[in-house]
Amino acid sequence: MIAVAILAAGKGTRMKSDLPKVCHTLGSVSMVERVVQSCLALQPVRCLVIVGYQAEYVKQSLNGFTDIEFVEQTEQLGTGHAVQQLLPYLDGFTGDLLVLNGDAPLLRINTLKDLLVTHETNNNAATILTAQMPNPFGYGRVFFNEDNLVKEIVEERDCTPEQKENRRINAGIYCFNWSKLSQILPKLQTNNDQKEYYLTDVVSHLEPVMAVDVADYQEILGINDRKQLATAYEILQTRVKDDWMKAGVTIVDPNSITIDDTVQLQPDVVIEPQSHLRGNTIIGAGSKIGPGSLIENSTLGKNVRVLYSVVSDAVVKDGTQIGPYTHLRGNVEVGESCRLGNFVELKNAQIGNKTNIAHLSYIGDAKLGNKVNIGAGTITANYDGVNKHKTEIRDRTKVGSNSVLVAPVILGEDVTVAAGSVVTENVADDALVIARSRQVVKPGWRLKSQEDKSSS
Ligand code: UD1
Ligand code: CA
Repeated sequence: MIAVAILAAGKGTRMKSDLPKVCHTLGSVSMVERVVQSCLALQPVRCLVIVGYQAEYVKQSLNGFTDIEFVEQTEQLGTGHAVQQLLPYLDGFTGDLLVLNGDAPLLRINTLKDLLVTHETNNNAATILTAQMPNPFGYGRVFFNEDNLVKEIVEERDCTPEQKENRRINAGIYCFNWSKLSQILPKLQTNNDQKEYYLTDVVSHLEPVMAVDVADYQEILGINDRKQLATAYEILQTRVKDDWMKAGVTIVDPNSITIDDTVQLQPDVVIEPQSHLRGNTIIGAGSKIGPGSLIENSTLGKNVRVLYSVVSDAVVKDGTQIGPYTHLRGNVEVGESCRLGNFVELKNAQIGNKTNIAHLSYIGDAKLGNKVNIGAGTITANYDGVNKHKTEIRDRTKVGSNSVLVAPVILGEDVTVAAGSVVTENVADDALVIARSRQVVKPGWRLKSQEDKSSS
């Protein structure tokens, strides 16, 4: 039986931020959300998140998780003090407690599982995750006795110069026998450089305490400042990209693109340089994104082509071509084999199949049928200054260049709109609408020049 506690009460002074440290994001997911996600995968009986600094903000950021409980640490007197707050919550609990720092979001679930197996099979009082760090600066150092059991953990700032040479570090991930830990917790002292209650001090009072080395030290990287945040993001990105390349996705220049780990790609997707895939995005087989495109919370079908464009909150069906310089935003649906071209903006619009909007248009709050052709410079005037109104353009209708469709307005099927029209009233099927003043030609008419004026 396992309960989980996540330490997320600290301010994160070294971030120099108004935002609590654990709410800083890697991709679109915060550090603490990532830690909570990996914990819940272990199906613990309880999942307790210790909050303190900007507690309400941290709680709010986790309101999507229903299986977690919050424990308040009103004063942040150290990691040991944080875990002391659990005492009333876990009174009588007889299982093991897994403790994780909320600022180590790169941990793999299998690493946690290995830690738990070692803990259970050896019936340890505590099992801690450790790593051999090439650069151990800033981490607590772990020291062993002759039986290779953990003797003590000494924080960097409390280390002697010799102790600092030790590169075996404490990852901040622990599994405790709760009955044993709960007896030690009240006895913690603050005789250290920071005058804090250190959780790490409990190991000297428990036995046996074993250490499990993580195979890939990058997993346990603790994020304390912006530089470590960037390093962690890079590690995460490398993982995500490597996985997609293994799964059959071509990434032309991996260093120039980013892919959130929430994105799903099918085989033979090609991602060209300077492209970014974010949020809940799904891209179908054979689609080619970029160069220079941003796709956000969107679902693209198969063989879609996006070139130098921004696509957000959109669903785009198979074979449609987008760009260069197209902007889709806010609830857009585009059918199969459409063409959306240069400087075309679509907002809250549903577009049928084989419809083309190739140049310089704004289509907002609109529904377009199949095989519609929108001429260059067409605008749906959807806003009267107070309210938004809908435009509907039915199958096979052709709108001439530089037309304004003043909503609310419906153009029926097979309508032709003459170029330069300002359409203010509905048009029935099979009609031509010309809504502009007629051209006037005056033969032999010429502007009087200054010379003509002075000679007369
Ligand atoms: C801690 C460990 C160190 C380890 C390192 C791994 C201690 C004393 N030291 O150091 O051995 O190598 O993690 O990354 O534990 N927190 C609270 N309440 C508090 C203080 C902190 O909830 O009163 C939370 C923070 O929000 C953070 C986590 O605990 O998520 C770790 O705190 P931090 O100050 O970053 O500890 P480190 O100095 O990194
Ligand atoms: Ca830390």
